[in-house]
Amino acid sequence: MSNRVTAAITAVYGYVPEDVLTNERLEGMVETNDAWITERTGIRERRILGKGLGTSEIGVRSVLALCEKRGIDPSEIDLLICATVTPDHQFPATANIICDRLGAKNAWGFDLMAACSGFLYGLTTGAQFIQTGKHKKVVVVGADKMSSIIDYEDRATCIIFGDGGGAVLLEPNTEGLGVLDSSLHSDGGGCQFLHQKAGGSVKPATIRTVEAHEHNVYQEGKSVFKFAVTNMAEVSALVMERNGLTADTVTWLVPHQANLRIIDATARRMGLDENKVMINIAKYGNTTAGTLPLCLWEWEPRLKKGDNLILSAFGGGFTWGAVYVKWAYGA
Ligand code: UT7
Repeated sequence: MSNRVTAAITAVYGYVPEDVLTNERLEGMVETNDAWITERTGIRERRILGKGLGTSEIGVRSVLALCEKRGIDPSEIDLLICATVTPDHQFPATANIICDRLGAKNAWGFDLMAACSGFLYGLTTGAQFIQTGKHKKVVVVGADKMSSIIDYEDRATCIIFGDGGGAVLLEPNTEGLGVLDSSLHSDGGGCQFLHQKAGGSVKPATIRTVEAHEHNVYQEGKSVFKFAVTNMAEVSALVMERNGLTADTVTWLVPHQANLRIIDATARRMGLDENKVMINIAKYGNTTAGTLPLCLWEWEPRLKKGDNLILSAFGGGFTWGAVYVKWAYGA
């Protein structure tokens, strides 16, 4: 026991829609092939959320299951942060919609937009409210309905992204477990390489912007790749080293799932074997803010109290970072 209060992850849950968009199905939509996609990205399929449903659907399903698992009522949540680039509406915040649908009537909430690093930004922000003693139960959702902003005529982007996400519950801990360190970064100079051209205040929607597909993801993949591969690896190694961790004492690397080659480079820089890296990109593709909670959810049965996790991400903004989490439960 120590006097220092840390924010422990005490439950995790994820959600992916049932509709599976395989590489084979994409072959019928754009000029691409399974071999190219698998070799260049590691992705075999991704999930698609139905029409009329928004990102809040992923959040609501995740948080309801999370509360049930932890044995708490949504009314006990103090704060809900929703990291997403595909909010249900421009406003109000998707966090508010999720809280309303959950019956989390004592919570306040807000959306946080840091693209693929959104979950790490949310986790770090949420942890502050626990550490200061202000709140006892903070939920961080990372979720995206990327299919709502993808151009399914653009083979450079439509093969990468999918829909899904998850949520974690943060609670106070005095055993030295939970979110222990973070190194977060942003560089607005990266905007030119990865952004949505229209729909914001600079270029509001017009018939012309719709016709020009300017509401979809625009990405210069090669440039983003170069920045991602360097920065994600460097920041992950930095957080590992400054916490006295080594390849032997890191239990899991939890990397953003954008491209298998970026994940491999990060693991190599940290000196980690493949069997210490959470990888599910083949099944879900890149779900932006959703990838990290989806990994934690899938690997949760194998996690043990005291495991050292390095979560890391790189994404639009540019934004990137790594977070050191000491897992708080499990046999
Ligand atoms: O999560 C947010 C951050 N985003 C990322 O981290 C994404 C980073 N970037 C990447 O993962 C990769 O750059 C991509 C997967 C997007 C693209 O892979 P690449 O190896 O960088 O390919 P490229 O864009 O350099 O294209 C190589 C070739 C081109 O043909 P030529 O010019 O060499 O004849 C493309 O036209 O592959 C072609 N190509 C395709 N071929 C088949 C591009 N997309 C496809 C496709 N199917 N879907």
